[in-house]
Parts: sequence; C-alpha cells; structure tokens
Amino acid sequence: MLAPQYATTPFAVANQCRRFEGQVAIVTGAAQGLGRVIAHRLGQEGASVVVADIQGERAERTASQLSEELDGIFVPFAGDLSEAGVADRMATQTRERFGHIDALVNNAAALIRLKLVDMSEELLQKGVQWNVWNTLRCCKAVLPHMLEAKYGRIVNIGGEAWRVGLPFHTILAGVGKGSMVGLTVTLAGEVLRDGITVNCVSPGGIETAADGDLDPLPPSGFRDPSWNPPEVMRAMGQEMVARNSLGMGRLAHPTEIAAAVAFFASREASFATGQHVGVSGGMAML
Ligand SMILES: NC(=O)c1ccc[n+]([C@@H]2O[C@H](COP(=O)([O-])OP(=O)(O)OC[C@H]3O[C@@H](n4cnc5c(N)ncnc54)[C@H](O)[C@@H]3O)[C@@H](O)[C@H]2O)c1
Repeated sequence: MLAPQYATTPFAVANQCRRFEGQVAIVTGAAQGLGRVIAHRLGQEGASVVVADIQGERAERTASQLSEELDGIFVPFAGDLSEAGVADRMATQTRERFGHIDALVNNAAALIRLKLVDMSEELLQKGVQWNVWNTLRCCKAVLPHMLEAKYGRIVNIGGEAWRVGLPFHTILAGVGKGSMVGLTVTLAGEVLRDGITVNCVSPGGIETAADGDLDPLPPSGFRDPSWNPPEVMRAMGQEMVARNSLGMGRLAHPTEIAAAVAFFASREASFATGQHVGVSGGMAML
C-alpha cells in the first residue's frame, strides 16, 4: 500500500460515457488490480462483462461485487488462459450465453520482476507461459466469433518497461510486452478489412491496489512477494530516478488506464488499429 502522500486517488478518472450498451466484453486477469478496474469501467458503460481469471474464487467474488455495485451483468470465468483449450471454452461459453463477443481486453499477466540471470527454469517457463500464451490463445479463441460478426475490438495491455529497457523486466516486459506489441501490429494487419481492430495500451507504474475493492483479500500467488522482492523494487526506483524516466513523477490511478482502454474497446475507435499508446505519464515519449 502506498504512503498517503503518494496515493493516486486525487487522479481517479470519472466515467462520462455509456458506449457499451448491449455489448459484451471479456476482460482477462480481471479478478483484481487493473483488470478489475477495466471490467468496472466497461460495465459502468453498459457492457456485460466476463471476468476471466486463473484465480477462480477471486473472479467469482469480483464478478458478484461488481454486479451488485453497478447493477450490471458480470460473469466469472475461471481457468488458466495459457493452457490449450481454456480460452476456447471461455469464448464458446460467452457466445452461448450472450450471442456475441464485442471486445476482448488481454490484461492477464504474471508480474515477475527479476534479472534474467536470477530466474529459475521454472519461473522462466511460467514467465513466458503467463505473459505470452494467455494473450495469443485468447486472441485466437475470440477471432472466429468476431470474424463471423465482422466486428470486434481487441485491446492488449502492454507496459512501458519494454520501451525504456527497465532492468528486472526482461521476461515480463521484454518478452511478454514486446511480443504483445508485435502481436498487436501483425494481428491488426491480418484482420484489417474484417471490422476488427487490435491495439495496445501500455501503462507505466500503476497503483494497482487502488482497484476499488473496499475489502481486499490478502495477496495470493499472483502477487507473490518473491516475484518482486523489495530490494528489486528499490533498485528499480533508484534506476528510474537516475535515468530521469519518472515522467510525471507519480503512479497512475488505474482508472486513468481504464479510460484509454475503454476508448480502444469502443465503437468510437473505428479507425485506429495496430497502434501502441503509452499511458504512462510520459515515462516514454514518441
Ligand atoms: N502494476 C503495474 O505497475 C503495471 C505496469 C505496467 C503494466 N501493467 C500491466 O497491467 C496488467 C495488470 O497488472 P496488475 O498490476 O493489475 O497485475 P495483477 O497481478 O494484480 O493482476 C493480473 C491478473 O492476471 C491474472 N492472471 C495471470 N495469469 C493468468 C492466466 N494464465 N490465466 C488467467 N488469469 C491470469 C492473475 O490471477 C491476476 O488476477 C498486466 O498486464 C500488467 O503487466 C501493470
């Protein structure tokens, strides 16, 4: 939890739109953190939202909290989206229940920040599995439905660390987010004339704990402290100061990222595809 003087609540972005009436969105990794806030934002704008997460109980809890708070439709989906067949099941179930899939937000990731030399074989495998395969499989699973409908929005959540070469990010950002940017562009090209857009929104640092859960559960395996040791986080902060890559000098409130995601996930973003947009307080610029 951030010290009060660093909390980002004063920067929370209020929703002023209702662009997703009658639409269906899948948000991966939505049980907590940024994914929860994106699900909230899309639901607040009228979407029925599938809250997909490997942490099944958390997904259920989040879906029922958001349904109650917004009086909307939030459906949990539990499963490891990097495993073969799981994303296909998610897409099929969504289609069976709602009849269409309008938007997919690929937010699920495993935030493992370690130097490459310090990663065990197991973490290396998990790092690739949970930062690359999730997205690839989810894109492949929703595409047949979007192609049939001749409409779809895919928004990939990247991260600016890949663009600025931040240490401790070789797997998470270099391999995970770097591949996501490549996938965004090439897939966008593949479906250019099919009514489907693919874009990538890259945050810098986010105050993910400010996800709107008023009574958060204790961190689980997916916020495993050994993945982000305190000494690593300290060294990373020092490095960012030394490199003058702090941008606006604060973390983002997750609603600031969700606002950009909602634009690319909406019908409004009809002529933007294959784009990468940093929403990182100027951490990286053109
Ligand atoms: N937190 C930051 O400062 C920051 C900065 C830049 C980018 N991002 C990106 O934002 C996104 C959300 O980050 P966060 O801080 O909210 O992280 P988080 O760890 O709180 O949430 C990630 C969620 O993804 C889920 N998940 C992971 N692997 C999965 C799988 N195989 N199948 C299904 N669900 C899976 C986890 O259970 C978790 O709920 C990620 O893509 C992350 O890389 C975060």
